[in-house]
Amino acid sequence: MPLNNRLDSVGDYSFDRLRALLHGIEPPSGLMPIALSLGEPQHSPPAFLAETVKREADGWSKYPSVRGTDSARTAISDWLTRRYNLPAGLVDPGSMVVPVSGTREALFMIALAAVPEEKNGQKPVVLMPNPFYQVYLGAAVTAGAEPVLVPADRENGFLPKYAALPHEVLDRTVLAYYCSPANPQGAIATMDTMKNLIALARAHDFLLVSDECYSELYYGAAPTGAAEACVALGDEPGNAMQNVVAMNSLSKRSSAPGLRSGFVAGDSELIRRFARLRDYGGAPPPLPLLAAASALWSDEEHVIANRALYAAKYKAAEEILDGKYGYYTPEGGFYLWLDVGDGEAAARALWSDAGVRVIPGEYLAREADGRHPGAGYIRLALVHELEITRDALMRITKVL
Ligand SMILES: Cc1ncc(COP(=O)(O)O)c(C=O)c1O
Repeated sequence: MPLNNRLDSVGDYSFDRLRALLHGIEPPSGLMPIALSLGEPQHSPPAFLAETVKREADGWSKYPSVRGTDSARTAISDWLTRRYNLPAGLVDPGSMVVPVSGTREALFMIALAAVPEEKNGQKPVVLMPNPFYQVYLGAAVTAGAEPVLVPADRENGFLPKYAALPHEVLDRTVLAYYCSPANPQGAIATMDTMKNLIALARAHDFLLVSDECYSELYYGAAPTGAAEACVALGDEPGNAMQNVVAMNSLSKRSSAPGLRSGFVAGDSELIRRFARLRDYGGAPPPLPLLAAASALWSDEEHVIANRALYAAKYKAAEEILDGKYGYYTPEGGFYLWLDVGDGEAAARALWSDAGVRVIPGEYLAREADGRHPGAGYIRLALVHELEITRDALMRITKVL
């Protein structure tokens, strides 16, 4: 039977590859297994999440609209305005915001909305960092574009340098994914980097998708967002964020990955097309969950407490790992990106001898131009509470 084979070139998803790698290996008996493989926060979300869902139970009998509710879009726009000190009215909730059921699906669907058949008579290109959130690659090839993976390794400060690409590539580019703070390396783009990136997108007329889902987990200065970089470039209410969308999520900020709630905000023409695409194939957030999401975007106290929990874990990580495996404390996010020489061998040994599940960096990157920026690394997600994290890190140093 003929089937869509575009994803064949991408291969199995990274966590399927990890399952296959560890298949048949038993963790040591007598040690509680600890999964540091998945970026799934295990801190408790605030109690008002569940209370709001319960209070809004009437909404279960209604189909939610693709564009969400006025109050949810306003809560999101207000959060962006407060967080990035934007001029009032810059992010118009009516035309520039769509709540989504987690940003994973939005990052995927945005490529379907944005990628044309061709650009300048040639095959369109989608840029992404390497290593990268795996959805970017699946989205690019499913949308029929040529993915171009741009190294984000130590040499590059762990962020991709899109401006250094040949003009031939930039002129075919229709969409660029960018992630700051970066998963897995935790690097944060400066305001200048962000401004240059937006200027590049406008000069070559492509869409910049700024994946900001780790923006609230930082350990120094708060990361710059695409919206505030647009303002620094002179954007004003009425036609702001052209060629740019920002995505953010409650999964990391509010430790609510199961709520499946995030948003896309930016370029109104793109948002219009994205909403139309979702009219045909989207799953908008249910109304009780959207009400809970609005409450979460409107509260910062729980976010400050959440950030402090991660900071304490990085302090422990520094004590245990400093000087080993190229350890550095990242500027943002909740990962460790450790250079262990052979990521697959390390992942196998850590599961069999330490009962700790980690993912080889190789599964989060691809070889491109003879370079594999994930090879040799493992990624650890510090998503558990402090004592479990400390236990896992001690076990890891013992085994490695
Ligand atoms: C870089 C990055 N972007 C987006 C997501 C998607 O998050 P969600 O779908 O929970 O909003 C993740 C999840 O781990 C991520 O690491």
